[in-house]
Amino acid sequence: MNRRDFTKASLLAGTALITGASSSFAADPSPKRIRTGLIGCGSVSNQYLPQLTKSPFVEVVSLCDIKPERAKRQAERYHIEHHYPNIEAMLAGEPFDFLIDTTDMQQHEGINRRALEAGKHVWSEKPIANSLAAGQELLRLANGKNLRLWGAPITVQSPQFAFMARQLGQGKLGRVAAAHADYGHEGPGWSAFFYEKGGGSMPDLAVYNLTSLTGLLGPVKRVTAMVSIVTPERTVDDKGRIKVTEEDNAMLLLDHGNGVISHVQSGFNYFNPNGHNGSKETRHTISIVGSGGFMGLVGYDWEPLGVDLATKVSPILERHVTDAQGYIWQQGAVLAAECLATGKELLVTPEQALHVLEIIIAARESSRTGQHIALTSTFKWPIVS
Ligand SMILES: NC(=O)c1ccc[n+]([C@@H]2O[C@H](COP(=O)([O-])OP(=O)(O)OC[C@H]3O[C@@H](n4cnc5c(N)ncnc54)[C@H](O)[C@@H]3O)[C@@H](O)[C@H]2O)c1
Repeated sequence: MNRRDFTKASLLAGTALITGASSSFAADPSPKRIRTGLIGCGSVSNQYLPQLTKSPFVEVVSLCDIKPERAKRQAERYHIEHHYPNIEAMLAGEPFDFLIDTTDMQQHEGINRRALEAGKHVWSEKPIANSLAAGQELLRLANGKNLRLWGAPITVQSPQFAFMARQLGQGKLGRVAAAHADYGHEGPGWSAFFYEKGGGSMPDLAVYNLTSLTGLLGPVKRVTAMVSIVTPERTVDDKGRIKVTEEDNAMLLLDHGNGVISHVQSGFNYFNPNGHNGSKETRHTISIVGSGGFMGLVGYDWEPLGVDLATKVSPILERHVTDAQGYIWQQGAVLAAECLATGKELLVTPEQALHVLEIIIAARESSRTGQHIALTSTFKWPIVS
């Protein structure tokens, strides 16, 4: 998949929903604006910056990229005054309070640490760090300095997630038994880091389903998995022909306790006749079944289109929550800025992001050793009551 097609499909979805994304604006015409810097001016910055520059809670004061021409180009495109070629220059330059980290997956841990040390709140693309221990250390650092640290993805913020969580909470599915979730595409074609150590299809793609399923069914006690590399070499824009060293194909079994077992499958070799256009994906990409009901999420969890529900009491499959109510996957950093400005909390937490990171690392260990891997981390659940 090339960068332009990927961006176009996601942007179409984003702009269709953009009008609902800043509803609090009507209530307060002049809220506090959080002075914000964004580091990493690649593909996803094209998704973030339109949201950030429209938000009444954000003032983007600076951009940064180690490819300085990218920072310059985005600064011109989005009318941002300052741009820098590295994090140190950015921290020493125009003052700001909130850093948004959209760099390569391998860079997040170090950049997030440096920003927290410098007293900045942080919103990080996934993952927050490359190991559970390092992520927990970052969270301790943030808490110790009274700073906030959040990480993508934000699937738990959607109204479809809330609806599903409420059905489960109200026991509509009876005794919950099993769930399945899947997400894949043919893999990004622009940057090598997706396929190199610290990358892989789990931290890039499975992370969405893992966030949704742990959010719906609770923290995981143990993980069993098989992961593999289907395409050992690829051609990417930034490095040409590369060796793929991280999984591009993954099957995970998750034990949520109380007998509930879920399955997540994800990879970079998934042909989809709809390409990566979220609005065209109408399958159930998440399904949950229990002794008294079935529930299926229509479309992807990052761009949900509805929820189908059938129960013993009402056995005809009915569609609910077809309106996204302003939710878009690109708005995480905007919600974080709103929280910094107004105190309105997010449902997204760093504890859940770190739990999902531990699942990903455990899945690799399980695949390597053939063992079930017990997890140590957890997070506050249920998320929606
Ligand atoms: N592309 C998407 O649509 C998309 C969607 C959701 C999430 N993400 C996530 O966003 C992150 C970035 O992905 P991308 O597709 O934008 O990648 P990308 O390669 O297009 O952009 C990353 C940018 O970060 C810059 N960078 C790397 N190290 C840096 C450093 N130390 N200091 C400053 N800049 C640095 C690179 O030069 C590059 O411009 C990843 O975590 C990815 O999983 C991407």
